[in-house]
Amino acid sequence: MTDRTVRVGLVGCGVIARWQHIPALARISGAEIAAVCDKDPGLLATVGKKLRSVERYEDFGEMLSRAKLDVVDICTPPQTHAALGIQAAESGRHVLVEKPAALSLEEFDRLAEACQGHGVRLCEIENKMFEPVVRRALSEVKRGSIGSVTGVDIKVLLRRTAALAKDPSHWCHELPGGLLTETLPHPIYIIQAFLGAVEPVAVHVTRPDLHGHAGSYEIIVVLEGRRGVGVVAYSGSSPKDKVVIDVHGTRKSLRIDLWNSAVLEYRIGGAGRASRGLENLRQGLSLLACTASAVTEVATGRFRGGHLQVIDEFIQSVRNGTDSPVSVEQAREVIRVLESIAEMAAANRAATP
Ligand SMILES: NC(=O)c1ccc[n+]([C@@H]2O[C@H](COP(=O)([O-])OP(=O)(O)OC[C@H]3O[C@@H](n4cnc5c(N)ncnc54)[C@H](O)[C@@H]3O)[C@@H](O)[C@H]2O)c1
Repeated sequence: MTDRTVRVGLVGCGVIARWQHIPALARISGAEIAAVCDKDPGLLATVGKKLRSVERYEDFGEMLSRAKLDVVDICTPPQTHAALGIQAAESGRHVLVEKPAALSLEEFDRLAEACQGHGVRLCEIENKMFEPVVRRALSEVKRGSIGSVTGVDIKVLLRRTAALAKDPSHWCHELPGGLLTETLPHPIYIIQAFLGAVEPVAVHVTRPDLHGHAGSYEIIVVLEGRRGVGVVAYSGSSPKDKVVIDVHGTRKSLRIDLWNSAVLEYRIGGAGRASRGLENLRQGLSLLACTASAVTEVATGRFRGGHLQVIDEFIQSVRNGTDSPVSVEQAREVIRVLESIAEMAAANRAATP
């Protein structure tokens, strides 16, 4: 289908669809939003007005039966992903789905089997893996420049998740692990990318319950693999957004500042005052260089964030018959670990007097 435009039907016109998927699809050559669907008629009208000549549906089944589509892009809450994905696969459409692709391994396997059985692709959006700074760090690690990876620490401060946790009517409270299920897929797949297979060994949530909306939400998760330890620290009370990933190696460490598009190096050794000062200087210069490059890319419209990159690669994989940018096995590993973390958190809560 190389020459043909991939026709996309997008379901769920909420936050992520409007902020990321719709603008990304508009920039991708060889893709076209053919139809949008949302069960909320007001939202559907607002989004539909901006996308002239795009078909609008309040009912997903109707979109599948009436619209001419190659791909269904699922941007609804996670509770609906597996059911909508299976319906899309049964209608012969490729499935692109926001994280988490499913709420349990059992659900994910049903979705993957439906896709395989109907000969269509399944791709989970793991956008942070496609951010330029994460890719740069990963390729350095693959080249061996930091030595062997020994650990990954991720600090996550996000106003969006902190705000939705406080909204008692938000769907995140109905997820198996509450906010934890909504927040952790990103750090899990990042840690897996640097450390390989990992298992959760400790989970701490500073909440009286996993699903409530009162009080601050701090989550700490420790994951252990053959190559090292990964630590995720999520803070739900920060007034600012920040995601920092420290990747430690036997020769040096890398600090990926996802929010500010920067990668800094921390070298091992050199405990004297002069070498500490030099390290400060080197990091300052790196930060300046990263800032200048990010500003130029944004100003010239060349910046490609993680969503644009992963959606584009998926569309091109459909057009060219090449591998999907996120494999089914990779997505399955995220769901397996996520489910296990939610179970550990629930067990910890139950054991707390
Ligand atoms: N990758 C990221 O960085 C990122 C960031 C934010 C959200 N997300 C993910 O995106 C998904 C959506 O999150 P959001 O914040 O945009 O949610 P949202 O609540 O803002 O939007 C969801 C929309 O889906 C619609 N919907 C629900 N069920 C439907 C159905 N059966 N048929 C048609 N429409 C239906 C709702 O009416 C709503 O408009 C979630 O899986 C979330 O985890 C990912």
